[in-house]
Amino acid sequence: MNESYVLNYPSEILFGNGRIQELHEKLPKNAKKILLVTGKHAENTGLVNEIIKMLPSRDVIAHCGISPEPPLNEVDILIKKGRENKSDAVIAVGGGSVIDAAKTAACLIPKEGLTEDYFYNRREIKEKGLFFAAIPTTAGTGAEITRNAVLTDPSAGIKQSIRHNTMVPDLAIIDPLLTLSNPPVLTAFSGLDAYTQAIESYVSKNACSISKSLALCAINKIYHNLPTAFMFPGNIGARLQMAEGSMITAMAFAQSGLGAVHGLAHPIGSLLKVPHGAACSILLVPILKWNLPACETEFAKIGRAIGFENAEDFIEKTVELQEKLGIPVTFTSYGLKEEHFDFILKNCRSNSMKLNPRHMEDSDITRILEELS
Ligand SMILES: [Fe+2]
Repeated sequence: MNESYVLNYPSEILFGNGRIQELHEKLPKNAKKILLVTGKHAENTGLVNEIIKMLPSRDVIAHCGISPEPPLNEVDILIKKGRENKSDAVIAVGGGSVIDAAKTAACLIPKEGLTEDYFYNRREIKEKGLFFAAIPTTAGTGAEITRNAVLTDPSAGIKQSIRHNTMVPDLAIIDPLLTLSNPPVLTAFSGLDAYTQAIESYVSKNACSISKSLALCAINKIYHNLPTAFMFPGNIGARLQMAEGSMITAMAFAQSGLGAVHGLAHPIGSLLKVPHGAACSILLVPILKWNLPACETEFAKIGRAIGFENAEDFIEKTVELQEKLGIPVTFTSYGLKEEHFDFILKNCRSNSMKLNPRHMEDSDITRILEELS
């Protein structure tokens, strides 16, 4: 366990039903020109107009719609808008992709160059960008808490993070009521992403006592509330628990990092266009089984925390959870074939992979990919 660590969270985190109403008073007084980045769903449900009405004394330019796994050129469009309009703050309202794209734009608007310069480390982030507020509308990614943004270069098929300590949002508002309109499939994918992140955080080589306590708390909340949120989307109690579980997960993995599921989910996701939550949930059980010899005690602790006997029970209950949510168990329908393995092996050796509790040789990864093809 890591006994020397840094905790780096947003300066202010507002959690609870209806707290989005406090957005205006929490923004800096001198933030007059706002770039508001949202998903299409927020536009279709009228949330964008509601937010613009909440900010009457400010000049708001809205950009609605960011592709999943945000491509570099879409972030450049945000940067261009922010520079042209001399924006002095950025607000993101949406899922992880919206928040990651806006987080990068907030960082780069006052700097020189375009997104790919920083994505490929040709330029370095040296100082803080614009004030950035993140308001998630899904319960899963935790992007409102973290210092990184996962982006994609579609021409090279590369998916990786831009990260810097100054990219942590200044303000996070987590209002569970915003997740009520999420359809079941989105609830399942984002919830399983959070569940996977919490488990990977708990057993990460870099975990510390605080991240482990947070991760265990989050696993418990998510395991017991995800099926209800999936089956009864309007259940406010389950939505609140899921939103809190997701936030706590992010507070854990922002310190500890993740593991092999995320190491592999990134290249598979970018190559085969698998939604991130689906990629994580398909990989989760095979990686849990791989990690079991190194994590028997830790998995047993998780099992007991959620009300079961031992490590094997925990894995079995995870399989049952996925069955309840109707998640695919292989990448067959996404077209995974042997010809993709080389690309995945070349692009999976990220920090997440290094933090996995049991080392994986290329041959170990290949065996798992064969099982999932
Ligand atoms: Fe994730």
